[in-house]
Amino acid sequence: MRAPRFLECPDYDAPSPAVEATAGLAATPANVPSKFLYDDLGSKLFDAITDLPEYYPTRTEAAIFSSHSGAIAQEIKAAVGRDVQLVDLGAGNCKKAERLLAAFAVRRYVAVDIAAAYLRGTLERLQRRHPQLDVVGVGLDFSSRLVLPAEVAGTSSLLFFPGSSIGNFAPEQALHLLRQAHAATYGGALLIGVDLVKPIGLIEAAYDDPLGVTAAFNLNLLRHLNRLLGADFDVREWRHVAFFDVAASRIEMHLEARRALTVHWPSGERHFDAGERIHTENSYKWSHDGFGALLRAAGFRDLRTWTDPREWFAVVLARA
Ligand code: AVJ
Repeated sequence: MRAPRFLECPDYDAPSPAVEATAGLAATPANVPSKFLYDDLGSKLFDAITDLPEYYPTRTEAAIFSSHSGAIAQEIKAAVGRDVQLVDLGAGNCKKAERLLAAFAVRRYVAVDIAAAYLRGTLERLQRRHPQLDVVGVGLDFSSRLVLPAEVAGTSSLLFFPGSSIGNFAPEQALHLLRQAHAATYGGALLIGVDLVKPIGLIEAAYDDPLGVTAAFNLNLLRHLNRLLGADFDVREWRHVAFFDVAASRIEMHLEARRALTVHWPSGERHFDAGERIHTENSYKWSHDGFGALLRAAGFRDLRTWTDPREWFAVVLARA
């Protein structure tokens, strides 16, 4: 049996997480990049969100993959051929990619995630189920720069970017990321999931569920900042706010101060008025046509799209 390899790719030009977080806290309006939602507990809370009846994206995407598995596998084979390298962007628990491993011949599976430590156990278990597969874990924050390490670059790849994670990027940033993804396919293809525009009530319910799991997911960011910065956020002083901005076609998540307060950390502090907010996430909802145009602007062609009967979510295969 082979053993997974692990590569860490720190971006020495990027600000450290602590510098990035404090810069956002000091800004007006305050903001913290959404990647800070995903510490250990945050990743578990996101997993719980995907089980909520109101959170339709994960379930809808999975239904598209299972109803169209044959056609998707066939189109992938036509686009990239056999013995290809599968690059999983934001691999997490690798469950979605593992279904693809069975569908077509993968030579090497490259799991990319900001949290390489979280990948270790998952990839060791995956290797046991696929003893012959070349398994590589890459610790990389591709939200700032998507360039694969030399060990896995330069070979035709299928880039897999499911879950509508692309929705967390503003259109200009999404274009930049997809251009880098285009280069990183080395003539292969991209398989991407994207959440589509739909009635506002459905979207807002998905991001403000009655059980309060999404609220806990958002509020947990404050606990993460306390650990990362040595800050003194009191979670009870904050409330979760989520609303859809029609003009920008995005759902926004914020944390709102319940009263006037000051937060301290070793190198600084920040006063918040009652009702003042920290912007923690945008999740853009795309139209079919808008997303197709975005992919083409990034250099992709021959787009194949699969969707669910209500057209809530789309899975797109695009050749480089
Ligand atoms: C994992 C980024 C796709 O934007 O829907 C879930 C994260 N935020 N509930 C999304 C999320 C609030 C999710 N993505």
